[in-house]
Order: sequence, then structure tokens, then C-alpha cells
Amino acid sequence: MSTPRIVLLASGTGSLFEALANEQEAKGFKIVALITDAHVPALEIAQRFEIPTFIVPMTPERSVWDESMLMTLRSLHPDLVVSAGFMRILDPKIVDEFEGKLINTHPALSPEFPGAHAVRDALAAGVTVTGTTVHFVDAGVDTGAIIDQVSVEILPDDTQASLHERIKVQERILLVETVEKIISNKIKYENGSVITQ
Ligand code: GAR
Repeated sequence: MSTPRIVLLASGTGSLFEALANEQEAKGFKIVALITDAHVPALEIAQRFEIPTFIVPMTPERSVWDESMLMTLRSLHPDLVVSAGFMRILDPKIVDEFEGKLINTHPALSPEFPGAHAVRDALAAGVTVTGTTVHFVDAGVDTGAIIDQVSVEILPDDTQASLHERIKVQERILLVETVEKIISNKIKYENGSVITQ
């Protein structure tokens, strides 16, 4: 079997991307590209690992960006696309085309706190437990079939930064484990559901 080809999408520091890049040889997959929507620090990590990068900046007309993203993704022939801190919603055409091959990590216990401010929203809501979710992507925002979740306790003196960092520690572990399960067919996607072997 040929080595599974993984494409990463990131918009920020890329620490989740780095966790996956560190494990690619040991776990038997290859990150064939990093796609970002701007000049972000994650690009430096890609450079260090000699992973090709594609910057697809948002365009005034959203449909132009959607098309560029679709063309870029298609050209890379990924077996799996991992959205790890990518702060853009993908066009339904992309979601459709890559259905079952597109996963996202979200820093909350979905369906709680969807959207771009999940950590802030959990703190503001005064809950005592939040966490992280890895899920297949559907047309919604941080919805889609849930693959796995890990809880993280909120401490009384937590700031958004301290809580997010503790969540990210769990996210890195969960994401590597999940990718490994998907490429070894221990987790499958069928008709909108997650099948665990
Ligand atoms: C992670 O917490 C990820 O779940 C979150 O961005 C962070 C990326 O961290 N994603 C979202 O909020 C998407 N809605 P990183 O840049 O250090 O990898």
C-alpha cells in the first residue's frame, strides 16, 4: 500500500500541524502540503520539515477563493485533509467533494461552543469542563460526525491563554491518534456516521 497522503490546513501558529509532522515517519503517513490563508507562523514549521506550502489568501470575491482552495486541494490528491486551526469555513463544494476525507479539530466539547471563539465562550459561560473534539467536516460550523473528544477541566484562575494551551496539549495527542486510526482503517466514515472497528 502506498503511504497515505495528508494535507494540512492551518491559519495560526501550527502547533497541531507540528505534532503531526513530528509523527509522520513513525506512524506511516506523509504530509504532502500545508495550505494557509495568509503568511502565518505555521509556514516556518513546514519549511523546517521541508513540507511544500500553498498560501491561498482570501479574495474580495469569496467564490474566487473557494475555487482556488478546491483547485489546490484537488491537485494534491489527498487521502485525508486535516483542518488544524484553519479559521475559514470551507465551501460546501469542497466539503462535498472531500466528504469522509476531511476532519477538523475544535477546542470545545461539541456541540457546545461552536465557532471561532470556543475557548473564550466556554470561560464566559462559566462551565467547569470543556475540551476538544475531532470530527468529520460537514456543511455546518464545527458540526459533523464526532470521532472523539477529550475533556479538560477549567481551573478557577484560568485565562483564555492558559486554558487554550491546556486544551491544545490534549488536541495534539488526540489528533495524532485519530489520524493514525483513520489511515489504518480503524475509523471509517459511512453515510455521515463514524464506524469504529
Ligand atoms: C486549536 O486549538 C484548534 O482546535 C483551533 O485553533 C487552534 C490551533 O492551534 N481551531 C479552531 O478554533 C477552529 N475553529 P495551533 O495554531 O497551535 O495549531
